[in-house]
Amino acid sequence: MINSQQNRRTPKSYDRLRDLFFRDIEILLIEDSAVDQVVFCRYVERSQMPFVVTAVGSLAEAREKLANKHFDIIVADYYLPDGVCLELGIIFYEYPVVVMTGGGDEKIAVGVMKAGAKDYLIKGTGSGALKMLPLTLENVLIRHHAEREREELEARADEMQKMESLGRLAGGIAHDFNNILGSIIGYTELAVEDVEEDSITRRNLQEVLIAAQRASHLVEQILAYTRDSAEERVRVDLVEVLDEVMNMLAHSIPKNVEIEIIRQVDYAYVHGNETNLYQVVMNLITNGIQAMEAEGGILKIRMMEIIQGRKPMICVEISDQGCGINRDHLERIFEPFFTTKAPGKGTGMGLAAVQGIVEYHNGRIDVSSQVGVGSVFTLQLPSDLND
Ligand SMILES: Nc1ncnc2c1ncn2[C@@H]1O[C@H](COP(=O)(O)OP(=O)(O)OP(=O)(O)O)[C@@H](O)[C@H]1O
Ligand SMILES: [Mg+2]
Repeated sequence: MINSQQNRRTPKSYDRLRDLFFRDIEILLIEDSAVDQVVFCRYVERSQMPFVVTAVGSLAEAREKLANKHFDIIVADYYLPDGVCLELGIIFYEYPVVVMTGGGDEKIAVGVMKAGAKDYLIKGTGSGALKMLPLTLENVLIRHHAEREREELEARADEMQKMESLGRLAGGIAHDFNNILGSIIGYTELAVEDVEEDSITRRNLQEVLIAAQRASHLVEQILAYTRDSAEERVRVDLVEVLDEVMNMLAHSIPKNVEIEIIRQVDYAYVHGNETNLYQVVMNLITNGIQAMEAEGGILKIRMMEIIQGRKPMICVEISDQGCGINRDHLERIFEPFFTTKAPGKGTGMGLAAVQGIVEYHNGRIDVSSQVGVGSVFTLQLPSDLND
């Protein structure tokens, strides 16, 4: 007999499960005995477990249910009218499965564990199977969740390693490529001097120079992304960097774009590589301006100091009223070579370089965006506190 007093657990006992699921947990019970089904459901109800039970009586019904609905855990009787539960095969690896076997069937229990089941319960009078049910299900679910989390972490670590070696490869190529470009630019500059001022050859050579300089800019972005270009680090004032970027852009800002700069600090010192930080600010502002090219609008740049977990950080917020970024793109904008711009207009290395540089400087870059409204990029870098 079930001692309901002893087994009644307060809902608080399932806090860990509730934290993991935020909803009722779906159990598929595969049990051909109608009586055992009722007993199981009643027990779950009485012990106030946050579970919803769907009961079926055969493997065929179980397969059908699993094809149409997601379950969090499966509890299966070993012997069923149309076979043994092991025939569910792959299900044992996709779901956490607890198998119920009859008393004296420990060998079977070992077999099902080898087949991928997460745990087993011995049925029958006096076995205490039901008493063990809450704890067993709780443990299995928590373990399964932890395993999944570990698998995801491992997959992410693999991905990071892949990106790192790709980055190293790209960095290596970019270095060699830079030297080649140096020769192309150098010799073309010499050749330009040697030909008539108004000649077609001179114009053609100037086109070569423009293209080579564009290639050189791309190489710089790749090097910044792979963090290979990070040379010396010094005390850099981001206020000055911003001024420099604005000077550089002064003649290329479209008429329909207005720039508003709000400086809440007189100085914004960070420790870093000046060329790289210039690249970050330049790339973010250029993107904002480009996003407003069609419709125009205001690009707001706000620079301030904030405290983040007791650490003072320099924060640069760049908001535009441009086209915005949809959700699918938002996940990819920091990927190297991801661009929505026409060929020749964008390389897709701008934000990848930004991210590489920001990480190297122990900072962070956040973005929020709404299609048709605009985007806000927030850059945070640790303040340089040395005088
Ligand atoms: N402020 C913004 N508003 C709307 N979309 C943006 C904004 N900033 C970035 N994006 C999107 O992110 C993509 C990637 O940006 P990223 O700066 O890396 O490359 P790009 O601007 O396309 O090319 P490049 O920077 O080499 O000229 C852009 O193509 C664009 O779709
Ligand atoms: Mg860009």
